This record gives sequence, structure tokens and C-alpha cells, in this order.
Amino acid sequence: MSNLTGFLGPAYLWVKAAHVTFVIFWLAGLFLLPRFYVYHHETPVGSPEDRAWIERESRVRSIILTPAMIVVWVLGLMLAFNVDAWAQGWFSAKLALVVLLTGYQGWLGVYGKKLANGERPLSSKTVRMVNEIPGVVTAIIVVLVIVRPF
Ligand code: HEM
Repeated sequence: MSNLTGFLGPAYLWVKAAHVTFVIFWLAGLFLLPRFYVYHHETPVGSPEDRAWIERESRVRSIILTPAMIVVWVLGLMLAFNVDAWAQGWFSAKLALVVLLTGYQGWLGVYGKKLANGERPLSSKTVRMVNEIPGVVTAIIVVLVIVRPF
């Protein structure tokens, strides 16, 4: 059965193209924000530089991360219903990893609020390590959705 016969009909490929485009925007924010936290970590609390990072970080969250994540989920779920992905092993694994990425974004929001309150709960080294999570998860998701190993 071709994927063009789902409820999306001929719009299926346009929706998939938009899905992948907003995935790129979302990942850009998920790669950028933790990097900002690494640099912010090294600024004195209350300094003009500290306030500048707080402003930059809140813009990344409100202008890039949250809108892109919502669009990725909406278009992704539309695709899932269109191709009936629910019974496919690759999709269950992919969905679990995407929920992990969504949880990671939640953590970024909480940690950003702590930085804005002048707290520096983690070491800069730990923040740098946490920064690697989206890259590893993305590589696995792309293999799952394109290679479909199971
Ligand atoms: C947020 C929840 C998500 C859902 C529900 C979802 C669901 C889907 C579905 C059902 C497809 C279509 C598969 C097909 O055409 O047979 C798809 C395509 C794709 N998704 Fe997602 N996705 C999500 C997030 C992501 C994320 C976070 C990434 C990357 C990190 C991603 C990368 C891709 C890619 C590269 C394709 C195109 C694959 C192809 O052309 O065969 N998706 N997605």
C-alpha cells in the first residue's frame, strides 16, 4: 500500500518535508542552548554578561525550541497515523527516543531558570557532557527512521 493513500493523500510528502525541516530547527535549538549554558556558567552572577545570557537563552527557548518541538510532534503524529507506523518496531523505538529529547528540553528549561536565579548547580564539565546528548540521540533516530533495522 503506498503512503499516498493515507488520510494525507498527496500532501503526505509535503508534510514529511515540513516534518524534517522543523526537526532541523528543533535540533538547532537543542544544540545551541546547552552551548549557551556552558558560556553562561563562566560569567559572574549579576554581571551585565550574566543578564545578556539570560535574555539570549529565554529567546532561544520561546522563539526556536518550543514552537519547533510542537510542530515536529504535530506533523510527526500526522505522519504516524498516515502510514500507520504504530505497529512498526522502528517507530516505537524512535518515539521513545523523541520522548527522551522532549524530556531533555524540559530539563533545559528548568536548568535555565536556575541559571537565571544566579545558581550554578552543575560543574561546567558536567554541562559540557550533557551537551552531547542530543547529538547521540539524533544519530540513532535517523538510523531508525531511514534504515528501519527492525
Ligand atoms: C516528535 C515525534 C515524532 C514523530 C511522531 C515522528 C514520526 C515520523 C513518521 C511517522 C515519519 C514518516 C515515516 C514514513 O514516511 O514512512 C517520520 C519521518 C521522519 N522523521 Fe520523524 N517523527 C518524530 C520526530 C522526529 C525527530 C525528533 C527526528 C530526528 C531527530 C525525526 C526524523 C525523521 C526523518 C529523517 C524522517 C524521514 C524518513 C524518510 O523519509 O523515510 N522525526 N517521522
